[in-house]
Amino acid sequence: MTPPLPGTGNLFTLDPEVAHLNHGSYGAVPVPVQRVQARLRAEQERDPDGFFLDLPDRIARARAEVASALGGDPGKLALLTNVTEGVAVALDTVPLGPGDEVLVTDHGYGVVTRAAERRAAETGATVRCVRISPHAPDEEAVRDRLLDAVTPRTRVAVLDLITSPTARAIATPELLADLAARGVVTVVDAAHAPGMLPVDLGGAAGGADFWVGNLHKWAFAPRAAAVLAVTAAWRPKVRPLMLSWEHDRGFPARVEWRGTCDYTPWLAAPAGFALLEKLGTDRVRRHNEALVGHGRRQLVERAGLRPLAECAGTSMRALRLPPGVAESEHAAKALMVAVRRRLGARIAVRPWIGGGVLRISAQVYNRPEEYVRLADGLTHLITR
Ligand SMILES: Cc1ncc(COP(=O)(O)O)c(C=O)c1O
Repeated sequence: MTPPLPGTGNLFTLDPEVAHLNHGSYGAVPVPVQRVQARLRAEQERDPDGFFLDLPDRIARARAEVASALGGDPGKLALLTNVTEGVAVALDTVPLGPGDEVLVTDHGYGVVTRAAERRAAETGATVRCVRISPHAPDEEAVRDRLLDAVTPRTRVAVLDLITSPTARAIATPELLADLAARGVVTVVDAAHAPGMLPVDLGGAAGGADFWVGNLHKWAFAPRAAAVLAVTAAWRPKVRPLMLSWEHDRGFPARVEWRGTCDYTPWLAAPAGFALLEKLGTDRVRRHNEALVGHGRRQLVERAGLRPLAECAGTSMRALRLPPGVAESEHAAKALMVAVRRRLGARIAVRPWIGGGVLRISAQVYNRPEEYVRLADGLTHLITR
C-alpha cells in the first residue's frame, strides 16, 4: 500500500479527525501558500491605497508566472475567480441566436449547464443535453455519442475535460478537433486540470476556443483563483461580466479587474505551483493516482460498488452506488452528511437515476487506511 508522501506531514491544516477524501471539490490550501496570502493581506491592510495603486501590474506579473506553469503565454489567458465565472464569460462572448444549439452532456457541472440554459433562453437558442451512460466503456464511445448529436445548428459545445460527478474524460484533443472541423465553438470546463494533469496552453487554448481551469483545486492556490485561456480570434471579443476601469486595456486586464476586491488569491497562486514543483509534480501525481486506485479497489472489493471507467493520470475515481441509493439531490447530500458523521470522512456524492455516483480523491495528505475505513463503513450505511 502507498504510504503518505514523505515531506508533506505538516503541510495542511485539515482536521486530523476527518479523512478528507474529497480534494476535488474545494481543494486544500497548503500552509506555505496560506502564509504567502496572509502576508499579502497584511501588506494590503497596512496601506490600502499603495497596495491598489500598482495592483493591475502585480496581477500581470502573477499571471505571467501562472501562464508559465501552464505552458501558456500571459497575453492569452486571464486570471479570474473560478470556473463558474469563466464559463459565464465565454457563454456571454459567443453570439447566439434563435435556432442555434448549445451542446452539453449530463455529466456537466450542474451550474455550468444551467448557465448555458440561461444564455440559450435569453437568445432564443436551445440546449441539447447528450446523455452518456456513466458506464460508457471509453473516450472513443463518448466521442462517437457527442459527434452523433452535432447538427448544422450546433453553435457551441460546453464540455468537461474531466467531469465532476463521474471523473471521466470528455473533451479529448481528438473530440475538440472534430468539433472545430464541424464549425462548433468549444468551451472546455477544465476545472480539475491545473496541477492534476499536464497542461499545455501554448498555441491554442488547450485545443478549445475557451478553456477554463481552477487553480484552487489541484494547483494548491488559495480560493478563489482560476484561469481563462482564449484563442486569438475570440480574445478581442471577450465580454467581461462587468465593465471596469481596466476595460480599455483589453484582454486579459479587462476580464481580471472587477473593482475593489480581494486579489490576494491570484497573487499567491504562483506559490501553489512553486510548492507543487518543490514536492515534485510528477511524484505527487504518481502518488495520488496510485492511492486513488487503491481507494477504488477497496470500494469495489469491500463495499461491492461498481467502478466507472477510470481516467489515467487523474487523482479522482467514481463508483456507482446500488440502485435506490442517492438518486435524488436530497438523498445524495444526506449520504455525504452520514459519511461525515458516522464514518468521519468527506466524500462527494452526486445523484443519478439507477444509483448515485460516489467520488473519491487522493492527495498527498491521504493515507491508504482512510479508504479501507470508508469502504468497510459504507457497506453498513448503504445496505441498511
Ligand atoms: C467540472 C467542474 N466544473 C465547475 C466546477 C465549479 O467550480 P467553481 O465553484 O470553482 O466555479 C466544479 C467544481 O467542483 C467542477 O468540478
